[in-house]
Parts: sequence; structure tokens; C-alpha cells
Amino acid sequence: MRFIDLERQYAIYKQEIEEAALRVLRSTRYILGEDVEALERELASFVGAKEAIGVSSGTDALYVALKAFDIGPGDAVITTPFTFVATAEVIRRLGARVVFADVNEETMNLDLDEVIKVWERARHQGLNIKAIIAVSLFGLPADLEALEEFCTQNDLLLIEDACQSLGAAIGTRRSGSFGHAGAVSFFPAKPLGACGDGGMIFTNDKEAAKRMRAIRVHGQTAPYRHELEGLNARLDTLQAAILRVKLRHFPKELEQRQTVAQRYRDLLQELHLIRFQHIPPRYFSCYAQFTIRVPQRDELARHLNSLGIPTAVYYPCPLHLQPAFADLGYSPGDFPRAELLSREVISLPMHPFLTLEEQKFIAQSIKGFYEV
Ligand SMILES: Cc1ncc(COP(=O)(O)O)c(C=O)c1O
Repeated sequence: MRFIDLERQYAIYKQEIEEAALRVLRSTRYILGEDVEALERELASFVGAKEAIGVSSGTDALYVALKAFDIGPGDAVITTPFTFVATAEVIRRLGARVVFADVNEETMNLDLDEVIKVWERARHQGLNIKAIIAVSLFGLPADLEALEEFCTQNDLLLIEDACQSLGAAIGTRRSGSFGHAGAVSFFPAKPLGACGDGGMIFTNDKEAAKRMRAIRVHGQTAPYRHELEGLNARLDTLQAAILRVKLRHFPKELEQRQTVAQRYRDLLQELHLIRFQHIPPRYFSCYAQFTIRVPQRDELARHLNSLGIPTAVYYPCPLHLQPAFADLGYSPGDFPRAELLSREVISLPMHPFLTLEEQKFIAQSIKGFYEV
């Protein structure tokens, strides 16, 4: 059994993917061009954003978005400590300061009350909080409507780290379309995964989009004219062509992910010691991961792994306790909910092609471990 079964997916789309890849190889147009532009148009329309800018990874999507809004030395950015390291890493790469706020225990996403507390404290300390990065963790949109309102009222930028949440939504608004910009990752294991690295930025701000397009090619605004500081962060053309194939199948895969997630909930609901990530009303998770909270997490993982069921722990250590962020001066106990989740979460195999039989086996194995 695979945790994310890319082999099954590849077998189904093999012919289309190989034709698209061959078409690019034979064209010898390998940098940007029609496939990148077409994917940008198709995804902008899918997400409901005015602009989409293809970049080299989710990390660079975050970096380029923040840079386009001029985040840099002297600024501070609030984000969650319960996320993949890239979210906070990019803030530092820009020379800005990372300020963490705790998450909501049920949704596992940033808690607005905690954000407000941290924001008020930071202002008293003289920090110039300029932006919030809200992560839509495991495919569940963060509290984006409330955060958007808070940011508008307080003249803050809202950037959504939608690296795990393409296809998710709140009501009819898709993840990626909230705030000033949304950053998506096409890492192969993501809901829409490339055959390598890739990412996309979404924004409704036309001027910011222009800056993002320039920043991804060394700040270039005309041939060999560099108005901004930039980097090489282009989306690879071969990946764009492959992603266009996968995007055609993506709406169906999103439905299949819903089915798989619902089956997990049905199969595991009688096990009262398991807690699911809470999906608030009107929220639609794309279930990048199916993550539950359990007692004896590490023992359960060993038990499942010994039966051939792969599992993962996202994330075993919250970022405020990572050595790379030690200089920020945080200590154990500073973000108790993020710390608790880090001890309790486990992600089960999750992909659109998981069968009912496989899920029954996983559920029985979990029940077997807890002897119910
Ligand atoms: C929440 C989050 N942010 C950022 C990233 C970075 O994306 P990438 O690996 O494409 O650089 C990822 C994925 O790995 C992620 O899960």
C-alpha cells in the first residue's frame, strides 16, 4: 500500500502525460511559453483569481509573493508554528522577522484570537507587523474570511499559504483567491502534483502580479532591464504541460478525495478516542492529507507500518522549537496547542484511488491496536 499512490495515478493518465511531455520535448521550447501561460489562465479561472503566476515551487511562490509586496528587513510577519518549515523560512530569507501565533486545536489552523493577541503584543514591542501568512493545513482552508476582515481593518497584508489546499473552498470561494495573494505547490505529493517541483501564485492585484512576473525572472521588466531584485523562479514548461493534463482530471479527483475522506470518517467514527480535523460548516477540504489525533501515536504508527500500512507525522516538532528558529527566543509551552498537535497527529494513506477494501483494512488495523 502506498501513502500517496502516484503509480496508480500515472498508470491511468500515462498516455496523456507522455504525449504532453513529448510535445514539449519535441517543440524545444523549454522556458515559459504557451504551456505555462495556458496553465496560468486555466488555474486562474479554476481558483477564481484575476492573475496566476507560475513559479518553480511552493516555497518560491511564497517568497516571490512576499517580495512583490515589499516585505523585507524591518518588517515582521505573523504565521503559524504548526506548518511545513517553508512558510516561516521565506520570511527569514527576506530579512523579515517571524512572529508565531498559536492554532485552533480543532481546525489545526491559525486562531484569530491568538493572532490578535500576538499582534497587539508585537506592536507594544515596537515590531512592524506587515503581513499574516495563513496556512490552509492538510487541505482545510484557514479562517480566511475573518482574517481577511482583520487584515483590511488593520492595514495588513494577508497571504494564504495554499500549498496544500488547491481545490479547497469556503462557500463558493476557492482557496488561493483570498487575501492579497495565495501560494500553491505542485510538489508531486500535493493534490495537484507535477512530476517534479512547481508552484503558482494567485492574486487579484494586477500591479503586484506584474512585479511577481518580473521577480521570477531576475526582476526583468524588458529584455536585460532589471527594475527589481529578483531570482530565477520560473515554472518549468515540461511541468506546466503535465500539470495541464492532470488539471483536466482534478475536479473528478477532488470528488474521489471527498469519498475517501468520508469513508474514513464512517469507518473510524465508533472509535471515540480518535479526533478528526474539524471541518467548519461551508468549508470544503481538498484532503491533501487525512490527519487524525490519537493517543499512543508513535506506537500506533509502528503497529500500522508493521502491517504494511504507511503513515506520516506532519509535523512532529512545531517550528518555534526547531533549532533553525532558536534565535527567536521561543520556549516549550509558548504555543501549547501546536505542541499538543505535534504529539498527537498522524496522517493515514490518502489519495483519490484508495479503495474501500484498503480503507477497511486500515480501520480494522487501527481498531485492532486499540483492541476495540
Ligand atoms: C504548507 C506548505 N508550505 C510550503 C510548502 C513548500 O512547497 P514546495 O515544496 O513546493 O516548495 C509546502 C510543501 O511542501 C507546504 O506543505
